[in-house]
Amino acid sequence: MRILRLSDTHLTREPGRDGEGVDTRGSLRRILHDCRELPGLDALVITGDIADDGSREAYADARAQISAFAAERRIPALFTTGNHDDRTAFAAVLGSGHLTADGRDAPDSQLHSPDGERAAVTTVAGYRIVTLDSLIPGKGHGRISAAQLTWLRTVLADPAPNGSVLAFHHPPVTVPGVAVQAALGLHDVPTLAEAIAGTDVRLLLCGHFHLQLFGMLTGVPVWVTPGVVTRIDLTATPGTERAVKGASATLVDLGGPHSPTFHTLHARDPHTGETAYELDATELTSVIAKLGPPA
Ligand SMILES: [Fe+2]
Repeated sequence: MRILRLSDTHLTREPGRDGEGVDTRGSLRRILHDCRELPGLDALVITGDIADDGSREAYADARAQISAFAAERRIPALFTTGNHDDRTAFAAVLGSGHLTADGRDAPDSQLHSPDGERAAVTTVAGYRIVTLDSLIPGKGHGRISAAQLTWLRTVLADPAPNGSVLAFHHPPVTVPGVAVQAALGLHDVPTLAEAIAGTDVRLLLCGHFHLQLFGMLTGVPVWVTPGVVTRIDLTATPGTERAVKGASATLVDLGGPHSPTFHTLHARDPHTGETAYELDATELTSVIAKLGPPA
């Protein structure tokens, strides 16, 4: 099975450049255009921060651009929430987040919880793809709620023909020593590890960090795809943050002799590598204090 991975489109209500000078709609358009000749795609998985401002206009634009790409290839497009997303607006435009090739909101099953979390299942080529909702409204870090973990255990109780893939926004793995990732990544990781240990879960797919990263959780590979909107450049001075322009995506292949394989694709953007924004150590510390969990 071949999945095209996108994450962190950060679209806004108004087209044009955002506060950091990035043309967010243009970045999505460019990466989809440059991926137009990829052969054999079975699914598109987009892991959150679809809208930077939680606006319905941003979701509608993401849906229009991504559905057009998916319809042409007759493949489903599966969206998750991220910390910038608004569940109500997301649900109004994208429903469960699982769109069929002809644009219908039709997952195999989905979670119905009082908090309206977007979690659903679609089976593709014998693989069960489960999206989870790690959004904590108003915060930068993430968590998979107890309600979702209970639902997930039920979903995973019967193995799928080729195994399961989980997709959600906040990574449970970090680059050692990067404080902002530790603070604003997934929290309560052991409870997720417990829920997937011994099941048919073959792979976890995440976004949020705007960079490519591989790690393992309880023996399961975790792949973090870089952002469509920007890439965080860890060659910056430790304790500061630099984001650079240039949309990226990942091609994920499952089931081959070396499965899973990951290949990162970069849009051919003449502005690639140009600085989008920089945060000094004081600014980054205050972002962590504001958006992270209570000290
Ligand atoms: Fe995020």
